[in-house]
Amino acid sequence: MIKVDLTHAKLASSIFDKQSDVSRIHKWIHEKSYKGSDYLGWVDWPLNYDKEEFERVIKAANTIREKADVLLVCGVGGSYLGARAAIEFVKGLYDESSPKIYYVGNTFSSTALLQIFKNIEGKSVYVNVISKSGTTTETALAFRMIRLKMEEWYGEEAKHRIFATTDKARGTLKQLSNQMGYETFTIPDDVGGRYSVFTSVGLLPIAAAGVDVRALMKGSLDAYHDLNTDDLALNPAYQYAVARKLLEASGKSVEIMVSYESHFAMLAEWWKQLFGESEGKEGKGLFPASVINSTDLHSMGQFIQEGKKVFFESVLRVKDVLLDGSVLVSENDTDQINYLAGKSLHWVNQQALLGTLSAHVNEGNVPNILIDIPKHDAYTFGYLIYFYFKAVAMSVYMDDVNPFDQPGVEVYKRNMFKLLGK
Ligand code: PA5
Repeated sequence: MIKVDLTHAKLASSIFDKQSDVSRIHKWIHEKSYKGSDYLGWVDWPLNYDKEEFERVIKAANTIREKADVLLVCGVGGSYLGARAAIEFVKGLYDESSPKIYYVGNTFSSTALLQIFKNIEGKSVYVNVISKSGTTTETALAFRMIRLKMEEWYGEEAKHRIFATTDKARGTLKQLSNQMGYETFTIPDDVGGRYSVFTSVGLLPIAAAGVDVRALMKGSLDAYHDLNTDDLALNPAYQYAVARKLLEASGKSVEIMVSYESHFAMLAEWWKQLFGESEGKEGKGLFPASVINSTDLHSMGQFIQEGKKVFFESVLRVKDVLLDGSVLVSENDTDQINYLAGKSLHWVNQQALLGTLSAHVNEGNVPNILIDIPKHDAYTFGYLIYFYFKAVAMSVYMDDVNPFDQPGVEVYKRNMFKLLGK
């Protein structure tokens, strides 16, 4: 399903030197016996997820799809990136067949929030507020503003238009939801924010956008089975994990995730959070960056080709795309594009990938890892996300670091709260 090609990173055989480390860590992950093991609920989640809650999610999503013009998804970090990544990955950027989704509560930008309020006034608005802790300030502040607007617009009915996804018992969002009578969905205790896309955190907005969440969960389940082996020869997630650690050991400090579809940009944002928050601790880790080609070949391409070689690339390559067409013929050919007439647009993109791969690897001396996926549908998204979960857990445990906490995030909060007079 997913193939990892290490030939352009010149690592194909050396990864097998790490087989015994991989076998040890695979056990830690599946037996939940090492650092951060209280947060390994995501490992078996594709098998053990709460089926009753899943059906409630589908019901709420259907209500939103029937009645909403606009859905506000209010959350930050792991509480919104996965959903946005899934929706854009599967549907593209310009699909208008579902309620318009605005992502709020992920910034303190007043302009962003107030522009959205302006756009949605008079429309049928539904809200999904998502916060595991129930106390995150960006989300709580935006939701305060949204809730009061909803009450102004809809009165008593507002509570039927708001769905809250949060801890089953703790946090102010849970208290507020009980008090206001919102329908609530639960984030399990043992699944951290950035590992939560397969829970109601991701599934409610994803289903409301019209993505087939049953297929998505089937993708995660198949990945669970396929990637539940410590044999490096058979496990592409671990091949990728070991390759990135070997490249780091060879002196690289940045991994650039590369893709050639503009609607994979939020997947890259999700990936950056997953790897950055999981790995960047104790002075260790690869800095995760991303580019979307060929767009970024006209901005970052120069640096990647000839700049300081602190990075390697991991290229996500998709075989079949949602929509394709042929380049049209023009009689006068003044634009000199007729040499491509009749060729598929996706084929042109694929040639850009191959040309860039060769330029970066052969002339630029940049190691490239290729990650091949067949499509960009819901099933593949589920599979790919689980692949990255397994890869990050393996990579970070190879550094002997806890992949499931984020202690460094508290420092800015302490300073900000002091300034805000909390
Ligand atoms: O991965 C994480 O744990 C974080 O990115 C959180 O998802 C993010 O900080 C939002 O937290 P919460 O869902 O508690 O509002």
